[in-house]
Amino acid sequence: MSSSVSIMEGEHIRKISDWALLKRLFTYLGRHKRLFMGALSLYPLNALAVILPPFCIQKILDEVIPQKDTSMLKVWGGLYLTALVVEYFSGFFSQFAMSVLGQRGMRDLRSDLFRHVLHLPSSYHDRNTSGRTLTRLTNDVENLGDVFATGAVTVIGDIITLCSVVGMMLWLDVRLTLFSFLVVPPLILLAWIFQRFARQAFREIRVYLSRINAFLVEHITGMNVVQVFGQEKRSADEFTGLNNDYRQVTRKAILFDALLYALVEAIGIMAIAALIWYGAADLSQGLVGAGTFVAFMAYIRRFFVPVRDLSQKFAILQSAFSAAERCFELLDEAVTIKSKPEAESLEHFSEKIEVKNISFAYREVEGQPDWILKDLNLELKPGEKIALVGTTGSGKTTLLKLLNRFYDVQEGAIELDGRDIKDVDLQSLRKLFAVVLQDVYLFSGTVRQNLRFGDNIAHSSIERAAKAVQVDDLIARLPQGYDTPVQHLGTNFSAGERQLLAFARALSIDPEILLLDEATSSIDSETESRIQKALEVLLKGRSAIIVAHRLSTIKMVDRIFVLQAGQVVESGTHQELLEMNGVYRRLAKLQLGE
Ligand SMILES: Nc1ncnc2c1ncn2[C@@H]1O[C@H](COP(=O)(O)OP(=O)(O)O)[C@@H](O)[C@H]1O
Ligand SMILES: [Mg+2]
Repeated sequence: MSSSVSIMEGEHIRKISDWALLKRLFTYLGRHKRLFMGALSLYPLNALAVILPPFCIQKILDEVIPQKDTSMLKVWGGLYLTALVVEYFSGFFSQFAMSVLGQRGMRDLRSDLFRHVLHLPSSYHDRNTSGRTLTRLTNDVENLGDVFATGAVTVIGDIITLCSVVGMMLWLDVRLTLFSFLVVPPLILLAWIFQRFARQAFREIRVYLSRINAFLVEHITGMNVVQVFGQEKRSADEFTGLNNDYRQVTRKAILFDALLYALVEAIGIMAIAALIWYGAADLSQGLVGAGTFVAFMAYIRRFFVPVRDLSQKFAILQSAFSAAERCFELLDEAVTIKSKPEAESLEHFSEKIEVKNISFAYREVEGQPDWILKDLNLELKPGEKIALVGTTGSGKTTLLKLLNRFYDVQEGAIELDGRDIKDVDLQSLRKLFAVVLQDVYLFSGTVRQNLRFGDNIAHSSIERAAKAVQVDDLIARLPQGYDTPVQHLGTNFSAGERQLLAFARALSIDPEILLLDEATSSIDSETESRIQKALEVLLKGRSAIIVAHRLSTIKMVDRIFVLQAGQVVESGTHQELLEMNGVYRRLAKLQLGE
């Protein structure tokens, strides 16, 4: 099943060694050093409290009672009681501190992950479903947090306790100790076997969970399509399939977990049985005192309790490690599109944008780039407006995405005022542009929040922008005006209205260059004329590159570039191109109805 998982999901987790993982995890805890140290310092105290009670019993049985020394009885009895109290309190506080620490660590990790995701290039998001990224940010981090919530992180404490118990037993009676620990080698073997299988099982769990999330995100977002095509049953069946797969891999992990728990318990009982059998003989011959014998039994129990706990924590740790691998893998995902260290910022666009012989491919097919744009050239001077036209899939949207570096070109260069945009500070580059894409994305929140998406924008400039593109009367008609909530994906607005809102959003940041991908969806003639007027306002005194689908837009621009299969095949004004009697004329006939 595991191989099919990696093929189907394309999810290939690089295996990081446990030590490397631990070291990185500890950097998250290290940020809260005092709390961490505080929790740690309680462990030796706790261990001491654990080993004291059996020792008190041994003293009482072997010394106090035979000597009938009541004053010593009070001492050992009091010590016993104190040890119990200390054990509970130190246990409580160390667990509490660790949980708080864990939650803080997880909060930091979650923030780091999201900050990282914010900077990841489009190519990452092309490769990974949002469901998968979402799983890493939520379930995987949560799973890692379980280590703290369940106290699995206290393995260090358990180990300290174990060592103290063993030390105490050796001090009491070396022979008996060695005899009782004949069972330890099989225990180690068991743990080793378990570790190998369990990790794989937990990895599969993470992969299947992320598939479920991806499926849910897509289906909830695309619910309309599912319902329109009457595919509720098929989607439900598909989900049941995923759900069953998930349950199956989970069962495997649970089985490992339960098996280990049971086996450790059995081994512990065997150790006690062996001790009784062997120790009773010594006891009857008076080789050991009754107190030592009883203390031994208590120590063995105290030895196997943390061992049994350890085995459970081990499972949680394995699961957490598999989650950590995924979180760190996301953190290690390269931010390929970023400012170079020596990048200068560009405040204005004053000379020209030059697209020089660029070639671009989204991906490789059989080792060869699958060129979407090939040897493309284009020029734009300040104040100029140009249109891109061409059949669907000719690369128009792609070109817009290259201009503000959603992707980097493989060959050639895009130069802004003579400087390669790869050498310009990314923030400043993107500030020069306002991008209005075909499908306008609105966030949940109010209309106002959606309009003021740029930095430091005063409310007055938002209203001015809304007025300029004549969307203000539309907003005024909304039940709560600017404070009207936007529904999920902006469904309470029509496509035309969303486009107008996007214009207002673009205008409010007052960009020097507008990149516009005109919506192709049919819009009624009234909205169409509104959009046209809004566009005129938006374009005034600005440079623009517009992927145009409307004749009215095309007539506004200075030049038109006709794209075909990723190359500019014709360029000129509308009239010039019509006279050429070539690709444009054909397109104009089909698309624009000329
Ligand atoms: N993110 C992407 N990953 C891979 N291929 C893509 C991606 N986006 C677009 N393409 C491909 O690039 C080609 C050009 O797409 P696009 O620039 O959107 O065309 P246009 O806007 O001219 O219709 C299409 O064949 C499309 O399949
Ligand atoms: Mg397009």
